[in-house]
Amino acid sequence: MKKNISYSILILITSLMVCSPTYAQVMRKAPYLIYPGDNTKMQVLWQLTSTATSTIEWGTSTSYSTGNVQSFQYGSDHQHTYTIPDLIPATKYYYRITVNSDVYTGSFYSAPDDNATALKFFAYGDTRTNPQDHDPVAEEMIETYVADEEYQTIVISMGDLVNDGDSESDWDNQFFDPSYQNIQEMLTTLPYQSCMGNHEESGILFSKYFLIHLKRVATGLLTTVLHTSL
Ligand SMILES: [Fe+2]
Repeated sequence: MKKNISYSILILITSLMVCSPTYAQVMRKAPYLIYPGDNTKMQVLWQLTSTATSTIEWGTSTSYSTGNVQSFQYGSDHQHTYTIPDLIPATKYYYRITVNSDVYTGSFYSAPDDNATALKFFAYGDTRTNPQDHDPVAEEMIETYVADEEYQTIVISMGDLVNDGDSESDWDNQFFDPSYQNIQEMLTTLPYQSCMGNHEESGILFSKYFLIHLKRVATGLLTTVLHTSL
């Protein structure tokens, strides 16, 4: 009898090990930001490895007390997005996304007042192929806005985000690789606006992760142009 009980416990433990979800891997592309062309809104996007409901909370402090909603996936690849509304321009906001037991946090500044005449921002490009080189650049961006918070505004990219823009693995392993923590933090704290480079190839995946959202941008700031450098 004792042997049977021990055997049953072993089976139970083994079953739990097999059935338990791997929470650490539920986030495929950690939260990133896109400026929706309105200084009272900010779009937050993320992608999961499987179907799950996410909660996003936001506010002007880390109590995230202004609002919260559940986000449901769109498309066929476990993508999520929510555009936070009713922001006060030129104001720092904090957000928190919870998926199962995992929590992801970020912050951003809403875009400047309508009467602003100057803006500090970052501009660069060709982040493709070598995320180990992109990561320290992202670290410098973070250090820059930590030293001068007026730089926590926006990133303009000239494109070539990944080597082969038609390769999902390049998006996973170059631009959104979670092991590059500075890139991840940069994406969670600065809206990322990019045109399409020649390395984005057909642009189908660029559109999947970025371009579809730019359709909402009313200004001519973010024109999709072909980046033709190497
Ligand atoms: Fe290039």
